[in-house]
Amino acid sequence: MDLLTLPLVMAVGTAVIGSLQFGYNTGVINAPQSIIEGFYNETWTNRYSESIPQNSLTTLWSISVAIFSVGGMLGSFSVGLFVNRFGRRNSMLMANVLAFVAAAFMGLSKLAASWETLIIGRFIVGLYSGLSTGFVPMYVGEISPTSLRGALGTLHQLGVVIGILVAQVIPCETNVRPVSSSIMGNASLWPLLLGFTAIPAVLQCVLLPFCPESPRYLLITCNEENKAQSVLTKLRGTEDVSADLQEMKEESQQMMREKTVTILELFRSPVYRQPIFIAIMLQLSQQLSGINAVFYYSTGIFERAGVAQPVYATIGAGVVNTAFTVVSLFVVERAGRRSLHLIGLLGMAGSAVLMTIALALLDQVKWMSYVSIIAIFCFVAFFEIGPGPIPWFIVAELFSQGPRPAAIAVAGFCNWSANFMVGMGFQYVEKLCGPYVFIIFTVLLLGFFAFTYFKVPETKGRTFDEIAAGFRQSAGQSSEKYSAPEELNTLGGADPPL
Ligand code: GLC
Repeated sequence: MDLLTLPLVMAVGTAVIGSLQFGYNTGVINAPQSIIEGFYNETWTNRYSESIPQNSLTTLWSISVAIFSVGGMLGSFSVGLFVNRFGRRNSMLMANVLAFVAAAFMGLSKLAASWETLIIGRFIVGLYSGLSTGFVPMYVGEISPTSLRGALGTLHQLGVVIGILVAQVIPCETNVRPVSSSIMGNASLWPLLLGFTAIPAVLQCVLLPFCPESPRYLLITCNEENKAQSVLTKLRGTEDVSADLQEMKEESQQMMREKTVTILELFRSPVYRQPIFIAIMLQLSQQLSGINAVFYYSTGIFERAGVAQPVYATIGAGVVNTAFTVVSLFVVERAGRRSLHLIGLLGMAGSAVLMTIALALLDQVKWMSYVSIIAIFCFVAFFEIGPGPIPWFIVAELFSQGPRPAAIAVAGFCNWSANFMVGMGFQYVEKLCGPYVFIIFTVLLLGFFAFTYFKVPETKGRTFDEIAAGFRQSAGQSSEKYSAPEELNTLGGADPPL
C-alpha cells in the first residue's frame, strides 16, 4: 500500500492552489455584473458626456467575461514552452507573476477609471489559469504513486470547484436578484473581490520552494538520477524506491528510441494518434456536456424556471458540485476512470432530459420549477462523478514523458476553446431553442458515451510506461514486454481484468 506521505500531500496541496485560482476566476465575474456595468457606464459618461448605449455595454461585458477563456486558450497552448526548460515546479512558481500582474490590473481598474485595465487583467489571469490547467495535472500525475494517481489527480478539480464556490458565496449578490447585503458586491469593494486573486498567489509562492521538483522530470528529462532518487525517497517516505526508479528508467529508455515529440508529431505518428484523439474527445466531452451553461447562466435558467430564490439555487449547485467531486475522489481508484466517465455522461444525459421536460411543462405544472432544480443538481453531480475531474488528469496518464507536454497543451487548448464556444454561444442558442436547448447537450452526451465505451481504455493501476506500451502495440509496434492480449482488449474499450 502506497503511503500518503506529508511531503506528497503538501506538494499536491500547494500545486492545486493554481486550480483554485482557475475556479475562482471562472466564478467571480458573475455576481458583481450589474455593479461593474454601472462602473462602465460611469466611466463612459465621464469620457464621452453621454451614458453608454446598451449595445456597447453588452459588448464590453461579453468581452470582459470571455477574454478569460481566450487567455486560457493561449496559456494552455504554451505549457510546453515552460515545463521542460524550467521544470514543473519552477514553471508553476513563475506563472504567479501573471497572477500578481492580473490582480493589480483588475484591482486598480476602478482607480484608473478604465474598463480596458479590467479586461487586460481578465486576459492575464486567463493566461495564468490556462497554464495552471496544464502544469497542475502534469505535476500531480508525475509525483503520485501509480495507485493514488487518480485520487490525487481529482484534487485538481476539487481545487477548481472550491474556487467556484468561494466566488459564489463571497459576494452573495447578483445582478438578477440581490438576496442579501453583500460583503464584496457593493459599489466600492468589487475591485478588491477581483484583486483577491493575489492572495492564493502569495501563498503558492511561499510554499512552492519547499516542494520538490517532479522526479520524472529530474530523471527522464534532466538525467539527474541522484536528485530523482532523493526526491522519491522523501515523497514515498521510504528508502526503497527502486521499483519507481526502475519504471522511470524503462520509460526513459523507451523515450530515447522516440524522436522529440512536437505538436505536429502527435498527429502524424500512428503511435500518438490514438491517444491524442482520445484526449481531445475527453476534453470536448467535458465542455460540450453543457456544464458551463449551468455555471455561467444558472441563475437566469432558474429564474426563467420560476424558482423563487435563483441565487440560492445557484449556490446549491456549487455545493452539490463540490460534494460530488469529493465522492469521485474516493471512488476513482476503485471504480476506475472509464466506468466513472461512462456513468457520469449517461447520468448527465438523463438529467438533461429531465430538465427539458421540466422546462417544457412549466406553464401547465407549477411544481416543475422544483423538478428543474433537482435536474440541474443531478446534472452537476453526475458531471463531477466523471466528466469533471477525469479529462483533466487522464491526459497525463495517456502519454509518456516525451509527448506529455505537447499532448497536455493540445488537450488544454481544445478544452478552453470549447469552453469559450459554450460561454459565448449558449445564450443565443437558448433564445432559438427555448426550453429544448438541453436536448442538444443530451445528443452530444450520448455521442461521447458511445465514444468512451468503444475507444477509451482503463488506465487505473497501470504505470505510464504500460499505458504507452498498450498504445504502441495497438498501433502495430508491438513491444516484447507488453504483449499480453488483455492490453489490446483494454485499448479496444473492454474492461481490463481486475
Ligand atoms: C471543470 C471545467 C470547468 C468547469 C468546472 C465546473 O473544471 O473545466 O470549465 O467550470 O469543471 O466544476
